[in-house]
Amino acid sequence: CKKEFQTLQDLPALEKLRAELAGCQRCKLSHGRTHIVFGEGNPQATLMLIGEGPGADEDRLGRPFIGKSGELLTRMIQAINLRREDVYITSIVKCRPPQNRDPEPDEIATCTPFLRRQIECIQPRIICALGRVAAQTLLETTTPISQLRGRFHDYHGIKLMPTFHPAYLLRNPQDKRLAWEDLQCVQQEYEKVNKS
Ligand code: URA
Repeated sequence: CKKEFQTLQDLPALEKLRAELAGCQRCKLSHGRTHIVFGEGNPQATLMLIGEGPGADEDRLGRPFIGKSGELLTRMIQAINLRREDVYITSIVKCRPPQNRDPEPDEIATCTPFLRRQIECIQPRIICALGRVAAQTLLETTTPISQLRGRFHDYHGIKLMPTFHPAYLLRNPQDKRLAWEDLQCVQQEYEKVNKS
């Protein structure tokens, strides 16, 4: 139950991890970034949302999902009766790729060990992978997001729901209906976990 997991959450380790990343120069994304966007939210969250990488607004302020796609993400979180403060939000890479290009395999490989440790500290029961890069990286697959979304996958014992990235949904609003279905599965699971 949730109580048992709480004893495993390691908040000092999460802060140690943040400190370890300060001034990071482990990959070439460090050259163009202003801020490292570590993540924010409830460090004891049941639900963790993982995007791709910071955009211009996030890079400027050092906070995840605060631009246009962040506005939509906030509405998606509210649609399942939660607030941003209830969940934990981060991304696969913590520094902005130039011109918002996709992060490259070497950049992902450098950053994901930190994400894995972040997940271990927070011990979420559910992960929502936002978009192709997050879903394919976490699930170690090249299957398209359109085929991954819509059902839970196992990520080291954590239920992982891939869905469309909010930036994609802003460009393709016709797919919001599918994202809504994914979010409803997340909400059901969230309520189940929080009852147990
Ligand atoms: N898109 C992401 O994937 N992550 C952010 O933090 C912002 C936009």
